[in-house]
Amino acid sequence: MPAIVLVGAQWGDEGKGKATDLLGSRVGAVVKFNGGNNAGHTIVIDGEKYALHLLPSGILTPGCIPVIGNGVVVDLGVLFEEIDAHDARGVDTTNLVVSGSAHVNTPYNRTLDKVTERFLGNAKIGTTGRGIGPTYADKMARIGIRVQDLFDEEVLRAKVTGALNLKNQVLVKIYNRKAFEVEAVVAELGSYAARLEPMVADTALLLEQMLDAGRTVVLEAGQATLLDVDHGTYPFVTSSSATAGGACTGSGIPPTRIARVIAVIKAYTTRVGEGPFPTELLDVKGEILRNAGAEFGTTTGRPRRCGWFDAVVGRYANRINGVTDFVLTKLDVLTGLDEVPVCVAYEVDGKRYDELPMTQAEFARAVPIYETFPGWTEDISKARSLDELPRNARDYVAALEEMIRAPISVIGVGPGRDETIVVRDLLD
Ligand code: GDP
Ligand code: IMO
Ligand code: MG
Repeated sequence: MPAIVLVGAQWGDEGKGKATDLLGSRVGAVVKFNGGNNAGHTIVIDGEKYALHLLPSGILTPGCIPVIGNGVVVDLGVLFEEIDAHDARGVDTTNLVVSGSAHVNTPYNRTLDKVTERFLGNAKIGTTGRGIGPTYADKMARIGIRVQDLFDEEVLRAKVTGALNLKNQVLVKIYNRKAFEVEAVVAELGSYAARLEPMVADTALLLEQMLDAGRTVVLEAGQATLLDVDHGTYPFVTSSSATAGGACTGSGIPPTRIARVIAVIKAYTTRVGEGPFPTELLDVKGEILRNAGAEFGTTTGRPRRCGWFDAVVGRYANRINGVTDFVLTKLDVLTGLDEVPVCVAYEVDGKRYDELPMTQAEFARAVPIYETFPGWTEDISKARSLDELPRNARDYVAALEEMIRAPISVIGVGPGRDETIVVRDLLD
């Protein structure tokens, strides 16, 4: 089995972590290819909860090699805290490999993320405040600091000096903040070098060798399709490529080696931060979904905005990523509803749209057209096959599958590893 891509189909928090974890011990490596510690994946194994931000989900599978790819932005303080916290719980983190070309989050970029948001006021993005956007901006502006720069103090000093020449002007003159001292930043980043160095490798080469040896490599996205910087609801997006295309640039694995694209999609929709969300429920129904689904951010603890399933978004995710399999998560959360509406199309300015409108302005005005399905009241968390689901739940899944135009191969009926219905093996 060659490389497999796993992405989020909506606005994040679909349960990508659990889906990757499910692939389990048959996987040789799990590569995080984009984003940073803006991501938060909760995985529940035997009732124990693990929260991952920078560590790829493969870290929880003994023998699997977790890889932080070149497309990631790494906050080294957070990475080592996360490693230490998992070590303390008995998770083996010694296999972790970090790309020498990954970019490094810096203290000035964390500050800039927060002050920029404040400066934007009502136009803010609602970022996680982790410095993600400014770090990717530096990468594109070619003033970023990379992992490999930490191992030569002169190179590091030159790069930090170059970046701060620009950044300090912005911080002091526009935002009225204190300037950062070059030597303090060099000392902070340099303090991680010795511990980091043994983990660093040419990850693209390593992954090619694993694929050549017949191992399965999973390329795991942070964030999701509608948060992708190119294909998402720009500007209310993250700053990286979270779709299947980004898996190649963010890992160095070429498109010709990718055999399967798995998209994780929730049985309803959530979003954190600002930006358009056509099926959002601002009433008590949204509150019901939030409580039933425990929809509070793994990273920031923010309440997630909740709404009905949006099939237009699902179809779009299929189109952008070339989905071969959907993993439908959190079906159990809908249990107990009399009826379950699904957005099948939008109306914008009196016109019907079966696909996402081309412009953000139109998308922001999109009014959902709903089709309503009968609900179910039976507890489905013990179901392990499709025929153990109540008729109405099965019909709901079949209707979504038809609307999003690719097979739903796995269904989540609870947060636990085993609370899963496998319709079709994702690694076959
Ligand atoms: P990610 O960022 O896509 O990995 O998703 P998060 O971990 O941020 O959010 C998904 C949440 O849903 C986590 O708390 C999971 O434990 C939980 N979860 C995943 N799949 C299911 C499911 O099928 N049912 C229920 N009830 N919870 C699930
Ligand atoms: P996982 O991987 C949900 C959102 C933020 C904000 C926007 C930009 O757990 O699905 P950023 O800090 O990235 O510049 O914020 O993107 N966001 C996420 N929302 N899940 C995530 O990750 C997210 N990562 C970023 O809330 O709206
Ligand atoms: Mg998450």
